[in-house]
Amino acid sequence: MSRVHFQPRHLCLAAATALATLSASAVHAQAQPPIKVGLMLPATGTFAALGTAIENGFKQYVAEQGGKLSGREIQYFKVDDESDPAKATDNVNKLIKRDNVDVIVGTVHSGVALAMARAAKESNTMLIVPNAGADAITGPLCAPNIIRSSFSNWQPGFATGVLAAQKGYKRAMTITWNYAAGNETVKGFTEAFEKGGGKVLKELTLPFPNVEFQALLTEIASQKPDVVFAFFAGGGAVKFVKDYDAAGLRRTIPLVGSGFLTDGTLAAQGASAQGLLTTLHYADGLDTPRDTAFRTRYATTYKLQPDVYAVQGYDAAQILASGLAAVKGDFKQRDAMVAAMRKVNVDSPRGKFTLSAAHNPVQDFYVREVKGEQNLRTGVAVKVLPDPARGCKM
Ligand code: BEZ
Repeated sequence: MSRVHFQPRHLCLAAATALATLSASAVHAQAQPPIKVGLMLPATGTFAALGTAIENGFKQYVAEQGGKLSGREIQYFKVDDESDPAKATDNVNKLIKRDNVDVIVGTVHSGVALAMARAAKESNTMLIVPNAGADAITGPLCAPNIIRSSFSNWQPGFATGVLAAQKGYKRAMTITWNYAAGNETVKGFTEAFEKGGGKVLKELTLPFPNVEFQALLTEIASQKPDVVFAFFAGGGAVKFVKDYDAAGLRRTIPLVGSGFLTDGTLAAQGASAQGLLTTLHYADGLDTPRDTAFRTRYATTYKLQPDVYAVQGYDAAQILASGLAAVKGDFKQRDAMVAAMRKVNVDSPRGKFTLSAAHNPVQDFYVREVKGEQNLRTGVAVKVLPDPARGCKM
């Protein structure tokens, strides 16, 4: 066996090589520019509070990682999309073409998100959708560079249809804004409710973000269905629930909804919301260590109770982090990064969930009942519900 005898000059050489390697990697780490995250969310209008909660949740997860993901600083670029589909293409192009962001996180409104998905597809920009449920995003518009951390509109509609049928209601009316989120949520509700033996008598709509409900409430009162299903969110949900109560309908015709009707809105809805039943992929009273830690930190940082929107923002950051970890922060390895994101088992405050082949959460939908300022979990309407992803070819 030959033996290597180190001479002093060998040791000097080895030390010099080690030093060179060390300083090269230090330079490499320093040279890594920040990851540019474009936040396209509503800061004004009926969904403004939802946008704030998503941003808070996203930033909370980054802060929990020490302010960096896989060693890379995060630089934010912000656009207020005003929940206005007419301005959506111009707004998203500010992030894609002017700011040259690596990834876009947005948005709340389905109509705006549809334009964002088209622009992201065209430019191959990474897009993580932290709320907007437009079915097409994980349907015909699905793409390797588009991932959703929230839900598809069909999902909470379907889960509420299951609940309403289980309650034994037979004749329903629906009421919503006439745009993708409202119409698709109603479709999901109708599918499950009619499968369960019910019948939707009439679909009532008004334009987004109109809140003049009076004429439609009068029609509900005259038709006297067994149950009313509603999709509204944010400021519109506050006004609808209060008007429904003021019209004397809460005591005579049960109102159910996807949980956006009462999420982040209860302080403003007060007594008018008490006892309402909804379904959603998040609830108060989950009482798991993961959720409790999330909520405690959120309340301490923002002096607010978190809601479903905060959770979806938090999970958008978790999904991004899992992709970056797989490529050690090298955003240019996009295929490997997306493959890792696609396989992630997200340890969410809502409960663990996976992503479908179309990149939409496969998750439980809780039954929630309003008590005070909480949407308390009382059961599960549908366990591990996947979106049908109709029309997705990837
Ligand atoms: C939507 O437009 O997709 C949406 C807006 C608010 C809450 C839920 C969905």
